Order: sequence, then C-alpha cells, then structure tokens
Amino acid sequence: MGLLEGETIVVTGSGRGLGRAYVLACAREGASVVVNDVDGEEAQTVADEARSLGAAVLVSTADVGDREQVEAMMDAAVRSFGSIDGLVNNAAVYDIVDVGQIPAGVPERALRVNVLGPVLCTEAAVPHLRRRGGSIVNITSGAQCGMPRLSVYGATKGAVASLTYAWATELEPDGIRVNAISPTAGTRMVTASVAQGLAGIDAATPPEDIAPVVVYLLSDRSAAVTGQVLRFDRGALSVMAHPHVREPMIRCDTWTVDDVAHAVDELRPAFMGAGVVVA
Ligand SMILES: NC(=O)c1ccc[n+]([C@@H]2O[C@H](COP(=O)([O-])OP(=O)(O)OC[C@H]3O[C@@H](n4cnc5c(N)ncnc54)[C@H](O)[C@@H]3O)[C@@H](O)[C@H]2O)c1
Repeated sequence: MGLLEGETIVVTGSGRGLGRAYVLACAREGASVVVNDVDGEEAQTVADEARSLGAAVLVSTADVGDREQVEAMMDAAVRSFGSIDGLVNNAAVYDIVDVGQIPAGVPERALRVNVLGPVLCTEAAVPHLRRRGGSIVNITSGAQCGMPRLSVYGATKGAVASLTYAWATELEPDGIRVNAISPTAGTRMVTASVAQGLAGIDAATPPEDIAPVVVYLLSDRSAAVTGQVLRFDRGALSVMAHPHVREPMIRCDTWTVDDVAHAVDELRPAFMGAGVVVA
C-alpha cells in the first residue's frame, strides 16, 4: 500500500521541473493528484504520465495569483475526489536582476506568483484540509539567505519561510502540518542562472531526487514534523535555521548613540553572514 493511498494532493506549477517530479512520486504512492500549471499543454503531458501510473488526475490551468481561479481549482478537486489532504505550493517565477536596474513589473510579478500564490492556495485549501487534517509543503530557496542578483526572488522565498513558520503554529490545532523544502535541481528555472554564470547553482541534481522529501512531508511518516524548512542540496539533507532573536541581550536605562555603538561591538560575535547556504 502506498504512503498516500486514498489522499488527494494538489501540486501547483507541476507542468514541468520539480512539480512534475512531485506529482509522479505522489501518483506512485497511490494519491489522486491535481496537476496545476498556467501552461496547460505541459500540465496535460504530466497528467497523462500520472494516469499511466494508475493515478486519478485533475488538470488545472489556474493562475495561482488569481483568487477566483484558485478557489475554482480547490472546489473542482473536492468535487472530483471528495477531499484535499495535501498541498504543495510549488509554482514560482525566477528572475535574475541587478539591484538599481530592476525592470518594472518584475517585482510585482514575483510577489504575485511566489507570495500571493501560496497565500491564496493555502487560503482556499485550508477549509478542506481541516476536515481530516493534512499537510502543506511550501517551497523556499537558498536565495532567501541573500544571494547577489536574486534579491527579489530571494525575498519572496524568505516570505514563504515566514508563512511556513506562522501557518505551522496557527494550524497545529487543526491537525494541519506545514513545512517547507529548499531544493536544488537541474530544471529550466536554473538553466538561466547557469547561462548567466551565477555561482553555486546546482544544475546536476535530477528533480526526482527531491521527490522523496516531499512525499515524506506529505505522508504520515512525518506526523511529528511541522514548522521546519528542510534543505536538500546535492544529495545532502539539512535543516535551515529558524529565525529567532539571538542571545545575548544588552539592556540600558537610557540609550545614547555611544551606548548603541558599544553594545553593537559586544554583539558582533552574534552577527550572522549572508548567503550561508551557498557552497
Ligand atoms: N530548481 C532549483 O534548483 C530550485 C531551487 C530553489 C527553489 N526552487 C523552487 O522550486 C519550485 C519549482 O522550481 P522549478 O525549478 O521546477 O521551476 P520551473 O520553472 O521549471 O517550474 C515552475 C512551474 O511553475 C509554473 N508557473 C509559473 N507561474 C505560475 C502561476 N502563476 N500559476 C501556476 N503555475 C505557474 C510554470 O509554468 C512552471 O511550469 C519553485 O518554487 C522554485 O522557486 C527551485
């Protein structure tokens, strides 16, 4: 019996790349799947592949940044399969931009797809997930730690990490777990980086290598795991640091600029570097 037998899993942006690999892995584990992508032809091809593995499939061309389309997708999933048990907020756009020269429209689109998208999809899925509990898997990126030329993309992924931490806490009483993964894989998204000579980009790992991490987080095997961002980088699994306030704390009755300067000198050992996950 598969790990996701009888469950319905929605994977956004799954017409290619990592999303496609997640859909096929869920299909192999017995799930019914919603293959969502704005590229309908690619979504259809992935749907055919999942059907050939024996899965029941619904294709959706909903734009994750459009509330009505997202709600219609979730409603159609419930009408077709009776429930939603898992959501993978995978759809995203990726832009390599130089700060000071960011083209008009790029940050707006990135925020819409990469941040508003997961918010709208989660918003529409949660009432259904609440019925019997479930799992949400968000997708972040090493770029959230600060990588040159990926500031806008990285900021959207930092926002997704924040959503993960907040939703995990808020939805725990409903039996809904929320985690994220920060993957690296050779997909069309990263070919642009390689072509532009960005350092530290992994184009070698096949998307299929990451799929077991997503299946694990969707399934009961991870019943005790929530609020975590797992990093999977070139075959190595790790946990990305939770944002938190670091010790020590320095107190002062009335702060002057001098006091601040001295205190910051004392706090210097607690400084953390940017871009730490990029080997
Ligand atoms: N490939 C990597 O190394 C890597 C690294 C870190 C994070 N990620 C993340 O993994 C996820 C998948 O990345 P990928 O490399 O497979 O990218 P990809 O570009 O190959 O796939 C993204 C898919 O999302 C779809 N999409 C875009 N806008 C959409 C929208 N508004 N509504 C619905 N679908 C939409 C695209 O059509 C595309 O099929 C993304 O969230 C990405 O940020 C990837």
